[in-house]
Amino acid sequence: MRKPIIAGNWKMNKTAAEAEALINELKPLVKKSKPEVVICVPYTDLWIAKKAIEGSKIKLGAENVAWADSGAFTGEISAAMLKEIGVEYVIIGHSERRQYFGETDETVNMRLKQALKNDLKPIVCVGETLTEREKNKTKKVLKKQILEGFKDVTEFDNVVIAYEPVWAIGTGKTATAEDANKTIGYIRSLIRKTFGAEVAKNLRIQYGGSMKPSNAKELMAMRNIDGGLIGGAALKAEDFAAIVNYKG
Ligand code: PGA
Repeated sequence: MRKPIIAGNWKMNKTAAEAEALINELKPLVKKSKPEVVICVPYTDLWIAKKAIEGSKIKLGAENVAWADSGAFTGEISAAMLKEIGVEYVIIGHSERRQYFGETDETVNMRLKQALKNDLKPIVCVGETLTEREKNKTKKVLKKQILEGFKDVTEFDNVVIAYEPVWAIGTGKTATAEDANKTIGYIRSLIRKTFGAEVAKNLRIQYGGSMKPSNAKELMAMRNIDGGLIGGAALKAEDFAAIVNYKG
């Protein structure tokens, strides 16, 4: 059985002081959580977040990782730097990185391999834009993102994929649960064909894009959906906890 995983993606929100306050508010609310709970926070919040989550089940994630070990890469943060703080998860290839910061399937692949080499658990984001969807290119886009993003990857035990249709991110528009389930089913069949049945059976695939307390239960009830990557709703302790506790 795949254990559901609910991860917050804070994006560029919350100063360190605000992060500490939010975590302190969140901790008691997710004490009895059944899914795995992760918060992916800005680099500058990691240190204080690590201390703040002590004694709770909340796990710590970053929002990106450099593909190189160290060196002349101004503005980048290495896997070793993250590991030393106690970071466990890392988001790779979020659509905002692809859209605004030149992230490509090739650089996703490089970052992914670096994460795996350093025992960081990657949450690899894939998803189509509205134009791509309207042109019926969803499968083609996902196939390219997955085949190129996971090129030469052989170890999947710690990998999580987040399917995030770009048109549903921060827009309030959610893919219907059936649609999300179907597309994630396609991703799983692609993984099966490419990397084998065992990998496909065990790999956790999240849905992301305007997931919130009011739609979490319906999405999580779907056979192929193993969790959520939560943006906006992760910034409010009550909302994020309500998603984590979707079973009631
Ligand atoms: P959203 O963001 O929940 O605000 O739509 C999700 C994401 O981008 O990971």
